[in-house]
Amino acid sequence: MLCTLSEILRDADERHYAVGAFNCLSLENVMGALEAAESLRSPIILQVAEVQFPEAPLELMAPIFLRAAERSGVPVCVHLDHGKSIETCVKAVRLGFTSVMFDGAALPFDENVRTTQLVTRIAKAAGVSVEAELGRVGDSGVDTADVFTDVDESVRFVEATGVDALAIAIGNLHGHYVHTPQLNIRRLIEIHEANRLPLVLHGGSGTSVEDFKACIHNGICKINVATAIQRGIMKAIRERMATDPDVGYIPLKQVMIDASRDVVAEHIRLFESNSRV
Ligand code: 13P
Repeated sequence: MLCTLSEILRDADERHYAVGAFNCLSLENVMGALEAAESLRSPIILQVAEVQFPEAPLELMAPIFLRAAERSGVPVCVHLDHGKSIETCVKAVRLGFTSVMFDGAALPFDENVRTTQLVTRIAKAAGVSVEAELGRVGDSGVDTADVFTDVDESVRFVEATGVDALAIAIGNLHGHYVHTPQLNIRRLIEIHEANRLPLVLHGGSGTSVEDFKACIHNGICKINVATAIQRGIMKAIRERMATDPDVGYIPLKQVMIDASRDVVAEHIRLFESNSRV
């Protein structure tokens, strides 16, 4: 069943687990992810980021996500990840997304507030949830030590914008980690104590089990995972090609569905969102 982000995160917030938000770039991705969520009785968030539009155009992914959500027996949120402009967020709202992220983290604080306020007004009028980001979640290899989310700024930002969920930077990075990161759980606890809203961890792939557990027990209610799914699918394809070089397209599609299912299932268990619905 199709849900908004705030609906899906309410229970996670109350019962201290996180809902996985999986970047899905193909039908195989979506089918595998939904199979995992349904068999484990878990809520799930399907998302696509603006930088991924060349491979997975928003207007093509929207009907796939929405039909998959509507025919599913578990709660499914259809979310725009890292929308870079008001226009992209509005387009997602018009296409039926139930949640949008406006990513103004690279903007000066006041501009991030102003633009997020506008996105929130528009999205809320359409019954759509909003996620925003404060602090910088960098890309692998970049030192993020000085760009952790500031606690006082987070309070001002949340009060001024009225967002439903806030993505924070606590040492997490997007993409392939060279070393397993050490997240700043102290900063997470401070942000959580200062704000009463669900927090979001981006860059989920490659995080240690200890950090995942510390996150979900201290206010992180949504965890984004992209790279791990892509890696899992590629590993499965390589293995299949090695043992069966003449494998056909249709069986290979099934390999991709199964790999997507397995990676998503592993993260659902890690995030403790299984057996919740
Ligand atoms: P990873 O690719 O590191 O899993 O990050 C995903 C993400 O945060 C998408 O917004």
